[in-house]
Amino acid sequence: MPLLAIETTCDETAAAVIARSREVLSSVVASQEHLHARWRGVVPEVASRAHVDRIVPVIDQALDRSGLSIHDIEAVGVAVRPGLVGSLLVGLAAGKAIAAARGVPIVGYDHVLAHLYACRLARGEALEYPCVGLVASGGHTSLFRMDGPLEATRLGGTIDDAAGEAFDKAASLLGLGYPGGPEIEKAAIGGDAQAHRFPRPLAADRDRLDLSFSGLKTSLRYRVRPPGASGERPCPSGAGLADLAASFQRAVVDSIVAKVDLALEKTGCTTLAAGGGVAANTALREALTAVGSRRRVQVVIPPRALCTDNAAMGAIAWELLEGGHDDGAMLDVTPGTDRSAAARRA
Ligand code: KG4
Ligand code: ZN
Repeated sequence: MPLLAIETTCDETAAAVIARSREVLSSVVASQEHLHARWRGVVPEVASRAHVDRIVPVIDQALDRSGLSIHDIEAVGVAVRPGLVGSLLVGLAAGKAIAAARGVPIVGYDHVLAHLYACRLARGEALEYPCVGLVASGGHTSLFRMDGPLEATRLGGTIDDAAGEAFDKAASLLGLGYPGGPEIEKAAIGGDAQAHRFPRPLAADRDRLDLSFSGLKTSLRYRVRPPGASGERPCPSGAGLADLAASFQRAVVDSIVAKVDLALEKTGCTTLAAGGGVAANTALREALTAVGSRRRVQVVIPPRALCTDNAAMGAIAWELLEGGHDDGAMLDVTPGTDRSAAARRA
């Protein structure tokens, strides 16, 4: 009997049906991108209202596609942290209602660890531990030493913006759409990544596994609108845009890869697991794979659809259930602070 996983941490309403073997029987993601595009960032109130509209149809669709009914569900897993509080509460309420009506266990799982669990799904078997875990998304850019799917020790990460947030803000500065990562990636095609020298703060600091993207964002801003320049300036286009996008993307990738490399060196781990929306970026995937080849480290990066938010990665709930967990009716959300609206607003 399978698990129903529910994901509403930010602006994706998602549900998946997952067998105990970790086989994903169905996975449905309803994106709200078009609702937030005009603000070039997630508007929390809009996100939670959209989750309310979508959660039941999305769960219905996931059940339909799995060929099962609600009566076949053995347990419920819900992403309860971190995320936007109003969004998280919608998924939690739906999950609790189903668990109570069906009399089955419910467990709350961590969205960030679930991003890494997507690597387990992609690999088809358990990862080798310990490993280094990189989560690069719109709300997080963190490096972990993983001693098991649920045992994470944070080694470092961004001290300001997340990598995805930097992509989103850069896209906004360049007059591109939302979400910014795929837009920058597209705009960068054919561009010269060496055309602009953008900063890679902390990249050379071998004592810390921390990263910073806010200076890079400011640097791009000054490149697009030099300080003191008066009047409106047209957004860059053509080769100018491609060079800016490619150089910016390269700076983000170099910053991340420098710290991943250092984390592998410091921990001696021979496996690297990478997840989160930014891990869908081709330049980053290629650079991480190159680090793996150089260090003879196994690199596991899920297919793109498992990098961006989804509920299939809620398969991590099986790890909790098999450990005997049942959070029951007292399950609550823990929003955290680092995915706050202010931090994500472009
Ligand atoms: O993991 P995710 O779907 O949601 C969060 O947990 O935040 O990540 C979304 C972030 C957005 O900032 C988006 O711009 C970025 O991932 N992203 C990308 C790409 N696809 C999504 N960044 C760079 N390149 C991409 N191809
Ligand atoms: Zn995410």
